Amino acid sequence: MNTTAVPAKTAQPSRQGEITSMAKRWKEKRGGLILALNDSQNHHAYIPRDAAMALGIELGVPLARIYEVPTFYNYFRLKSPGKHMVSVCMGTACYLRGGAKLVDATGSLLGIKPGETSQDGNFHLEMVRCLGCCGLAPVVTINGEISAKMNETSLREQLTLRVGKGGN
Ligand code: FES
Repeated sequence: MNTTAVPAKTAQPSRQGEITSMAKRWKEKRGGLILALNDSQNHHAYIPRDAAMALGIELGVPLARIYEVPTFYNYFRLKSPGKHMVSVCMGTACYLRGGAKLVDATGSLLGIKPGETSQDGNFHLEMVRCLGCCGLAPVVTINGEISAKMNETSLREQLTLRVGKGGN
């Protein structure tokens, strides 16, 4: 394991408060690094590099370990997901009712594959497991807002609506 010392004060000054707070919250807990990185991702929708480094410093975790964790778990994102997070459910009920078609349709509409962000930075596509509302299958969430019984047409409308608003 790399125990190279990392430079102090690597977080953007505006983030230092949040970093200190997250580190303080999880420092003494088992799995504290994972929990702190989860906090960071919840806050930014991904884990900014400087935030990960600063968290490592505050938690006393070597640099190599800081990157080992988020690169091992698919759950963690190391790049900004863009303005709009499009999550297509691929749980069993949604899959059987056309989830895979929705992934393909979203991908071709936006020119991206699952896990990618569109070039304009407006959309990020991900596949998720059961969202707990199988009776509404197939389900897509955009920025956490659930759209039920989706098909390619309704999905296109949802995405166009957001593009029509200048991607905001
Ligand atoms: S399988 Fe999609 S909500 Fe349950």
